[in-house]
This record gives sequence, C-alpha cells and structure tokens, in this order.
Amino acid sequence: MSIPISADEALRTLGEELTGGLELIAAATSVAELEAAEVAMLGRKSRFSSVQRALGSLSEEDRRTVGRRTNEVRDAFRAALAARRAELDAGREARLLEADRIDVTLPGRRLRPGSLHPLTIVQYEIVDIFTRMGYRVVEGPEVETEWYNFDALNFAPDHPARTLMDTIYLDVPGESGLLLRTHTSPMQIRTMEAQPPPVHVVVPGRVYRNEEITAKNMPVFHQVEGLAVDEGIAFSDLKGTVETFFRALLGPEREVRLTPSFFPFVEPVCGGKGCRTCAATGWIEIMGAGMVHPKVLQNVGYDPERYTGFAFGMGYDRLAMIRFGIPDIRLLWESDARFLEQFQAVG
Ligand code: PHE
Repeated sequence: MSIPISADEALRTLGEELTGGLELIAAATSVAELEAAEVAMLGRKSRFSSVQRALGSLSEEDRRTVGRRTNEVRDAFRAALAARRAELDAGREARLLEADRIDVTLPGRRLRPGSLHPLTIVQYEIVDIFTRMGYRVVEGPEVETEWYNFDALNFAPDHPARTLMDTIYLDVPGESGLLLRTHTSPMQIRTMEAQPPPVHVVVPGRVYRNEEITAKNMPVFHQVEGLAVDEGIAFSDLKGTVETFFRALLGPEREVRLTPSFFPFVEPVCGGKGCRTCAATGWIEIMGAGMVHPKVLQNVGYDPERYTGFAFGMGYDRLAMIRFGIPDIRLLWESDARFLEQFQAVG
C-alpha cells in the first residue's frame, strides 16, 4: 500500500532519514547493531521504503527528482554501513590480537633435558669398543638355573665358589635350583648352545650377590661378559684384545697388567682376582678372564680339539665410580635428579 505524498514531503523525509540513519550507523558498536540499523533504514517498514512505494503517485518530473534522491540516500547508507562494518571487524581483530599477545620479554622456562645414567654411559662405552671389534651384543635372563650359573661352567657341586659368590637362591614352588645369576657367565653357555662357532659376543647386564650394602658394595651390580670361540684362538688373542680394549676405554698411556687367578670355567692363565692392595699399588682389578675350559666347550657340544676361545667378565659399577669420581655406590641407585643431571645430556 502506498500513501500519496508530495515531492517536498518525500525529499524532507529522505533528508531526515539520511541524517538519522548515519547517526545510527556511527553509534553501532557491533555487527548485530549495524544489521538492526540497516533494517530500520532500508527495511520494508522503513520510511525510506514508504517513500519508494509512493513514487508511482508522483508526477513524472517529481518522480525523477525524488527517485534520484532515494538512490543517493540508499548508496550513502550502504557506503556508511560498509565503512562502519570494516571498522568493527578491524576492532575485533585488534582485540583478538591483543588477547593473544605473548610477552616475549619474560625469561623463558628452561626445559630440563634427560641425561644418561652414569652406568649406562660406561656400559655404552664398553659395548661400543667391542662392537667395533666385531662382537655382537646379547642379553640374558637374570633368573637362572644352577646348571647355567654353575654346573655347565665347570663349577664342581662342592666348589667353594658357589658359596663364595653369596648366591641368592629363589624359592619357587614346583621349581628347583633357581637363583639370581651371580655373574653374566651363564650367557656363555646359552650363546654357544644357540649357535655353532665362531662366536664373538658381549653380554651387559645385572648380577646379584647376597652382600651387605655399603658405600662400595651393592647386592645388585653390573657386568659385561665377553666370549670369543673359533678355530685357532690363542692366549695372545686374549691379551691383545684386553689391551686394545683398555687403551680404547682408558687412554693409550694406561698400563694393563695381567695376573694369575682362578675361575673353574676358564683355564688359570690370567685375571686380576686377589689384588687386595690396589689402593697402595695403584692397580685396580677390573676384569677376570681366561681361555675357555675344554669341559665347558664339551658341555655345549663344541669340539674342544678343534675350537678354542677366551672369556672375560668385568664389573663396571666401580669403573663408573672411578671415572666420574662418585664416592658412594648407593648414589647410582637413588635416582636423585640433582645427581643424575650432572651427566651427559641426551639428544
Ligand atoms: N664371572 C667371573 C666373575 O663374576 C668373571 C669372569 C668372566 C672370569 C669370564 C673369567 C672369564 O667374577
């Protein structure tokens, strides 16, 4: 429905609408308010629309004049709406940026990198030297049988070493002769049983002995076992390997001394057991070693006439203590971050 109006009236209405509308637009503080202003100015119920509807009742000349003016007013509204909308959008963007602002002048929070345990560092170094010499790394069970820990290694049933080693026996219903391995040597047997010669392996791992806890002793400690078996392996190979190893580990100027000792599973040609005075003499016992006993080869079905070999075993808890100046072995077990973070960082 259009209500007839005069051209003057129409132009005045358009003028008032333009002023009022521009004020509405300027006052809008959100996109929603802007949309409401647009409906009020140009919607079907607006005075602007009723002027448009009344155009048909005007004379041709008036219609042209008023028609031109309605277009101008609509364009002015649209331009003002677009400009205000851009302003509001920019403000929203600025507020978002402000909320996301990070103060890069604050001191950063330091990431605490993990570090390798001193025992792990020494273990990696030892194993590394042997793998470079062609040895393979194997690991074995910590719960062992008397057979692997003693019998197969040529310990006689009444051999004093069985008690001297302070063996921890396990009381498992339905099982007999289970124990916590007292050394990594049972892996000599397990390795040879699993493959024909030649054998070149090193075995890092935990071993257990029923000893009192002191600054220098723990009932759990660590060994690396080594075993080489092939045709024609001689004592000179053992000596050369051990010397090469210690020079690589401790430096070329380090002196290595071999002294006689006894282990039933190797022939008593060398080893360092019994060095009680190391503090006074400057010598420290690091490993036991020897030529593999023919009985041990026989026990795993190797022909002792054809094959010979050597074995060695070293505890490296003491090595780690000497190397890093750790005064008490218990520190290696306490997992105190203040202690651990002093060692080589990972990554
Ligand atoms: N198993 C011996 C020990 O624990 C060390 C050793 C290994 C000695 C191999 C000779 C050969 O004391």
